[in-house]
Amino acid sequence: AGWKLADHPRLGKGKVVGVVVLDGWGEAPPDPFNCIHVADTPTLDALKKGSPERWRLIKAHGTAVGLPTDDDMGNSEVGHNALGAGQIYAQGAKLVDMALASGKIYEGEGFKYIQKSFETGTLHLIGLLSDGGVHSRIDQLQQLLLKGASEHGAKRIRVHILTDGRDVLDGSSVTFLETLENDLAKLQEMGVDARIASGGGRMYVTMDRYENDWQVVKRGWDAQVLGEAPHKFQNALEAVKKLREGPKANDQYLPPFVIVDESGKPVGPILDGDAVVTFNFRADRMVMLAKALECENFDKFDRVRFPKIRYAGMLQYDGELKLPSHYLVAPPEIERTSGEYLANNGIHTYACSETVKFGHVTFFWNGNRSGYFNPNLEKYEEIPSDTGIPFNIQPKMKAREVAEKARDAILSNKFDQVRVNIANGDMVGHTGDLEATIIGCKAADEAVKIILDAVEQVGGIFVVTADHGNAEDMVKRDKSGKPIRDRNGNVQPLTSHTLNPVPIAIGGPGLASGARFREDLQDAGLANVAATVMNLHGFEAPNHYEPTLIEVSAAPYLKS
Ligand code: 3PG
Ligand code: CO
Repeated sequence: AGWKLADHPRLGKGKVVGVVVLDGWGEAPPDPFNCIHVADTPTLDALKKGSPERWRLIKAHGTAVGLPTDDDMGNSEVGHNALGAGQIYAQGAKLVDMALASGKIYEGEGFKYIQKSFETGTLHLIGLLSDGGVHSRIDQLQQLLLKGASEHGAKRIRVHILTDGRDVLDGSSVTFLETLENDLAKLQEMGVDARIASGGGRMYVTMDRYENDWQVVKRGWDAQVLGEAPHKFQNALEAVKKLREGPKANDQYLPPFVIVDESGKPVGPILDGDAVVTFNFRADRMVMLAKALECENFDKFDRVRFPKIRYAGMLQYDGELKLPSHYLVAPPEIERTSGEYLANNGIHTYACSETVKFGHVTFFWNGNRSGYFNPNLEKYEEIPSDTGIPFNIQPKMKAREVAEKARDAILSNKFDQVRVNIANGDMVGHTGDLEATIIGCKAADEAVKIILDAVEQVGGIFVVTADHGNAEDMVKRDKSGKPIRDRNGNVQPLTSHTLNPVPIAIGGPGLASGARFREDLQDAGLANVAATVMNLHGFEAPNHYEPTLIEVSAAPYLKS
């Protein structure tokens, strides 16, 4: 099919459309643990109070964004995929589940490739150890890689764990580790030499993203490949328990450790002839390690030793770079995204965020493609994030800088769409620090104001929405929704995303007075936003897109 979009019968072209994605900004009842509610957010409050025809909630979790079940919380990858693609695709988590259920995973090229090393080499499994379902799932590790690989000939297995505490509660690493140790013990009884070889906290070891800080990947490399780390233990459970006692230590930021034998020798460095699988299905925080494991020419840090291995990713993490070249499950083929359509219809787009979310409004938005569809029409700008400081120490992050870039782009008259991600609700929310999150939410609201003021100035249109919830619920609750308190009355902060819906607001002087949200799409989700944005640019959306959220009557709608 062609790329030409039909003209919208009622909405004209040529208005600047400002698209703001508030990261980690869901809707929940007022509550002391709802940081968005507690924070001073006059801009977002005004949108909500403004008019029910131009503010509503949409789904941002579960099957609405292509996740396996409605118990799966939303996340930025699937959220931005849905926002940008306008269609719902089965996402990585689900594709792996399906390949496992059918057994096809063992027939695939990727598995056959690593299998060639099983006879003489070790199989190394590197990834995030939790049931968060955002980057990985422990049951997939258990089923596919421990049980499945040993049944398919792996005789020596080494697991390199990354503790979570971000998509799951802090401290839960211990339970996941016990589960894993139990599985490994069973394998040992069956004659498979299976052990944990190294570990570290996901935010400090290996799982950096968008090349924010290569030292994170290097720390992992040293432990996983070279078998070197500042902390050495004979037992992983002991390692995690001990390291968690350290000052400010938590699952996300555990220092790297290696497991050694009685003589102090690491039990599982990665050597020539070994096989390696990175078992995260999500790309953003694994692709840097994939580069280090696969690229001959690599200058991001000194690898010291570059072992000749057979390496496969759970998925292919970068479709353009074809990285890694071997993978166990083919990634979702997200096609015909709104970015590509709009570029093919002459729309000039500017996209901006700070480093830690930059790929969200570019790579994820465009269906996991890096680069421009048409460099003459698009400009993507990255504001460097602070590195080395947790975001609860700098909760304002680069919100103002991103907003000022967006403002300048809007006022420049060079762009039809100006798209940003404001990261605070999510990145500060993940620290579990309520006070800091409240400051972050205020900063995000101020950033939105800067952008809406610019839209106002040029007679444009705005769309303000979010990718999933986070900051609106910051406490672990029981089934009835009450915060769980321990004996001393303390609550446990919720560092993860949530199942909550997110707001979407439209407006601005350029929006036709008869445009409003339709009432027939109560179950709409993030994937309905792309068609909506296309309408606001004056186009009809393609038929295979999820339907637009808006309708336009010839007369101005009446305020209810
Ligand atoms: C992360 O990678 O930071 C979290 O696991 C998920 O957060 P995101 O989906 O908002 O990026
Ligand atoms: Co997040």
